[in-house]
Amino acid sequence: MKIPVIIDTDPGIDDALALFLAFSSEKLDIRAITSVGGNIPLGKTTKNSIDLVSYIGANTKVAKGAEGPILRELHTAEYVHGETGLHSVVLPEGNIKLYEKSAWDTIYEEAIKCEGRLNIIAIGPLTNIAIALMKYPDLKHKIEKITLMGGACYIGNTTPAAEFNIYVDAEAADIVFKSGIPVIMVGLDATHKALVLEKDIEYITEGKSKISETIRQFFNCCSIICKLYGLEGAIVHDALAVASVINPNIIEKHKYYVAVETKGELTYGKTVVDIYNVTKKEANAEVAMDVDREGFVEMLRGMIKAYE
Ligand code: RIB
Ligand code: CA
Repeated sequence: MKIPVIIDTDPGIDDALALFLAFSSEKLDIRAITSVGGNIPLGKTTKNSIDLVSYIGANTKVAKGAEGPILRELHTAEYVHGETGLHSVVLPEGNIKLYEKSAWDTIYEEAIKCEGRLNIIAIGPLTNIAIALMKYPDLKHKIEKITLMGGACYIGNTTPAAEFNIYVDAEAADIVFKSGIPVIMVGLDATHKALVLEKDIEYITEGKSKISETIRQFFNCCSIICKLYGLEGAIVHDALAVASVINPNIIEKHKYYVAVETKGELTYGKTVVDIYNVTKKEANAEVAMDVDREGFVEMLRGMIKAYE
């Protein structure tokens, strides 16, 4: 039986690769793509969502979400993803109409339809999810699981303490981690171990189709950015989160209590992971701490085959 999912996203180069992977899988029933302000402002993440879904040829609704965080100003990442959000990749203008409902109303609508089986894959800031949970108090009983790319036990990529998706809207992340919904946290501890090397990119994108050429361009953009940080290869954070829903064995998870810092001057947006259970609080998340990197590369190669 397929897994019904909604992918909440701020495309974003690695979001784009995550969407190619998701739509290539026969295991996922993608009910909707919901856009959120994040890597770049909402207008562009929504346009990129429409262009990507159209380009992939998927018949999936795209619903527009929040301009920015619940409380704070939007912090964007054009320095990584470029002004358009897709770095140097140019896609044809999408031809699908925006869904008439907001992201949060779409999430609720689909949660009702899926009768408790809906999975959310959140690969941008968690604003839309938090708004949905605040607007619909019964929603938390209708979501099977939230798999989110975000956070980290030990490092930050936006401040020394915080990962981007959590940093952009820590208040929203706090609501999600306190919701009681099972959370799979695919953070930097795992994504940084899933480095796709240059030789892997060649292996993955051997295909001859138009889409495989475009996917190769996205990988190359990723590796250009990673080189700026001294890394040889591409860290495709969001694609790993999607991969972990398609094949849960791709990551090694541990049950930990996770809290989100929303007050600290230096630590705002940090996911505080209680690895030794010193708080004696019950675990509220499964945190990815290791990755089957080779298995992930094989899944990415399989993705290309699906588009040949
Ligand atoms: O920290 C990585 C995350 O932030 C990814 O989701 C990337 O797209 C950016 O949104
Ligand atoms: Ca993202």
